[in-house]
Amino acid sequence: MAPPLPTHLDLSAVASCDSWNSWLLFFGVESMGKLWGGRFVGSIDPDMEAFNASIPFDERLWDADLRGSEAWVRALTRARVLSSLEAERLLDGLARVREEWGKGSFHILPEDEDIHTANERRLTEIVGPVAGKLHTGRSRNDQVATDTRIYLRDEIDVLDVMLADMQGAALELAKAHLNVVMPGYTHLQRAQPIRFSHWMMSYFWMWQRDRERLAEVRHRVNVCPLGSGALAGTPFPIDRAALAEDLGFDSASPNSMDAVSDRDYIVEFLAWGALLGVHLSRLAEDLILWSSSEFRFVSLADAYSTGSSLMPQKKNPDSLELLRGKAGRLTGNLMTLLVVLKGLPSTYDKDLQEDKEPLFDAVDTLKLALPVAAGVLSTLTIHPDRMRDALSDDLLATDLADYLVRKGVPFRESHRLVGLVVRRSEELGVPLSKLHMRDLTSISSVFDDDVDGVWDFEASVERRNVLGGTSAETVKRQIEAAEKLMLTFGRERRK
Ligand code: ARG
Repeated sequence: MAPPLPTHLDLSAVASCDSWNSWLLFFGVESMGKLWGGRFVGSIDPDMEAFNASIPFDERLWDADLRGSEAWVRALTRARVLSSLEAERLLDGLARVREEWGKGSFHILPEDEDIHTANERRLTEIVGPVAGKLHTGRSRNDQVATDTRIYLRDEIDVLDVMLADMQGAALELAKAHLNVVMPGYTHLQRAQPIRFSHWMMSYFWMWQRDRERLAEVRHRVNVCPLGSGALAGTPFPIDRAALAEDLGFDSASPNSMDAVSDRDYIVEFLAWGALLGVHLSRLAEDLILWSSSEFRFVSLADAYSTGSSLMPQKKNPDSLELLRGKAGRLTGNLMTLLVVLKGLPSTYDKDLQEDKEPLFDAVDTLKLALPVAAGVLSTLTIHPDRMRDALSDDLLATDLADYLVRKGVPFRESHRLVGLVVRRSEELGVPLSKLHMRDLTSISSVFDDDVDGVWDFEASVERRNVLGGTSAETVKRQIEAAEKLMLTFGRERRK
């Protein structure tokens, strides 16, 4: 006689697993503990069990794993490997597993090696031995690759929206301070006057490239490896194109050996994340400098600052410092995976399990960082007066050289002449605009009274009126183009 059927309540206690095992054994199901238990004698070493397990981190793939399994049931049914009755029971069971995860009542058992084992174990508990048919023609190798791609595709869509929000915050700031002129720096030395809005838009365009790259990465993520089996393909007549479509993939992978070990899409995503991290870090560095007392060009909102436990006066830009610091770990995640992959022989090796933690860490890090960066921008206070005070005549030295060029002096010569003017102003301790005409004409007779027109920061930025320049018109043109992109970019996918 069959042992008494355990109730659902029994299952909520981890220890009740034994009664299920005896029930399953009665029906000829070997063991619920391991998916591969058949040829093994005795139990796995506890240290090895912990070392081998990925459930502590791949648990988050539960939904992707169930979606993959549901589609696999449908594919097996279309291939007439499963009867429609079996399919119905499996799909009902999978729906119940999904419900438990959704409600938070799914209990992971100590012997659940990974998310695939956990979901199948629970399905077995719910529907009984028919669950044993789910894995027909499938391996955890194609399963995990499928799950990770489904997961990443969804996260990419979330990250793209976050990036767009951050771009929106930058755009608002640029529009609100369109006409603020400030020193622009090269080598961190004052170089030429620029519009604050032009600086802000420079980040918009970096992030636009980040979004373009992400869309390209998504294209390579969205390929279906399911139906590749362990390495050689599946022996059942699965319509892989239909299966790929069922799961929302753009295509099915063309080679089973490549499919089970291809982690290029994760490398690409991590490289994308590392570069975005670098962009965020550079933004942070600009704003950290500018929010210091020495510059005071901007003030960070209290909501994005913290204090010192010792120095009562301190307001520290921790949000920005962390944005800068996270670039380190994002780069580290990319390095981790590259090193894991290097030297692996063809197809699946357990090393590949090491792809998940860097991937999840990059996703989590960016999902925390992007809203913070957007929040910093949308709450940032700009101090136009401080920026204007920092504008000094030497920032117009190039404009002075261009003045001579307009009068026919070759640029190399005008550069040398203005160098002499700068040296004279330093010797005399007078700003460039306050030098006497005779000081100028002693250097070049081309200088004339109209040179006074050079000492105008506004005019300097307005002269840079070519595509990509810092004049009001060209910055406005950037903003218009940006606003158009915000409406159109990625729209296809969002539909
Ligand atoms: N947890 C494993 C991973 O993340 C799943 C695949 C296991 N495959 C195997 N042949 N042991 O890679």
